[in-house]
Amino acid sequence: KTVAILGCPFSGGQSKFGVDKGPIHLVEAGLIDQIEGLGWRVVFDGHHQFEDIPAHPLAPSPPPNGISSNDSAVTTLDASLAKLKNPLFVARVCESVADAVQAHAESGQLPVTLGGDHSLAMGTISGTLRAYDQACVIWIDAHADINTIESTDSGNIHGMPLSFLLGLNPPAPNPDSILAKYEWVSRLPSERLVYIGLRDIEKGEKDILKKHNIKAFSMHEVDRYGIGKVVEMALDHVNPQRDRPIHLSFDVDALDPSVAPSTGTPVRGGLTFREGHYICEAIHETGLLVALDLMEVNPALADAESVRQTVTVGCSLVRSALGETLL
Ligand code: ARG
Ligand code: MN
Ligand code: MN
Ligand code: MN
Repeated sequence: KTVAILGCPFSGGQSKFGVDKGPIHLVEAGLIDQIEGLGWRVVFDGHHQFEDIPAHPLAPSPPPNGISSNDSAVTTLDASLAKLKNPLFVARVCESVADAVQAHAESGQLPVTLGGDHSLAMGTISGTLRAYDQACVIWIDAHADINTIESTDSGNIHGMPLSFLLGLNPPAPNPDSILAKYEWVSRLPSERLVYIGLRDIEKGEKDILKKHNIKAFSMHEVDRYGIGKVVEMALDHVNPQRDRPIHLSFDVDALDPSVAPSTGTPVRGGLTFREGHYICEAIHETGLLVALDLMEVNPALADAESVRQTVTVGCSLVRSALGETLL
C-alpha cells in the first residue's frame, strides 16, 4: 500500500501567477506525514521540475499547422490553434506527467498528483489509462474543462483537458502541427466520465456535454438529491458493476470560495466542506481508487489566512480519499 506524490508546480495552462506554488505549500503543510499517519508508505521524489522543457519555442514559431496554405479549412484550424496559450509547453509537460503517473501506477503505487493547473489532468489521466485501460474518471469541478480548440474563448488549456482526452479536437493535419504534439494523449470513452459540482459552464461546453451525452451532476443536482445520492448515481453511471478502477480529479474550485478561496477561477455556490469530503470518503469506500489529482490551489491569491485555509482543506480532501474516516 504505497502512495506516490507527484508535485507538479506548473501554471502554463492558465494565465494567473502562483498556481505553480500549490504543490510546494501542500507538501510543506505536512501532507506526506499525514498520509503516512493513515498507514500508507509514501514515496516522494521531489517536485517535478520540467527543467528540460523549454517554456517557449526557441525559434520563431512556424504557422500553427506547420504549413502556409490558402485552404480555408487549414486557415480556420490555424486561427483556432493561434488562440491557445503555451500549447507546446503544456503538451510536453503533460506528456512527462503521463509517463510519471504510468510508471508509479504500473509499479502498484497510487499516484497523487498535486497541481498546478488542471491542464495537468491530460497527463495524469493518460498515465492512469495506460496502466488501467478500463479506468473511469470522476471529475469534481465548478467548470467542465471541456472546451475544444474551436470553442475556447480564453485559450487557457486548463479549460480544455477533457476535449483532448475525449478526442473532440480534429486530428493533426501534418506532423508539424501543434495538434501532433497532443497525439500521445490517451482516449477516455465519454461514458466513462462523470462530473460533480459544475456551475460555470460556457455555452459551447453545454453543447458538447449534450452532443456527447456526458453525465454531469451540477450544483443543482447536489441541492436536489443531496451529495450521498449524487455520488451513488455518479458511480452507477461510470462504474455500474463497481469493477472499474477510478481516477478522481479534484479541482479545489469545486468547493465554495468560502471554503477554498485561494484559487484562480472561484465561482460562488459551490460544494460545502462536508460535501467535498464526502465525495472523497465515498470514493475511498469503493476500494477502487487508483489515482488522485488535487488541482488549482493557488497560494498567491488571497490573504495569508485564506491561503492557509485552502491548503489545509486540500490536505484533508487528500486524506479523506486515502481512507481517513470521521469515526
Ligand atoms: N471555462 C473557462 C475557460 O475555459 C474556465 C476554465 C477554468 N478551469 C479550471 N481548471 N479552473 O477558460
Ligand atoms: Mn516520481
Ligand atoms: Mn475549475
Ligand atoms: Mn478544473
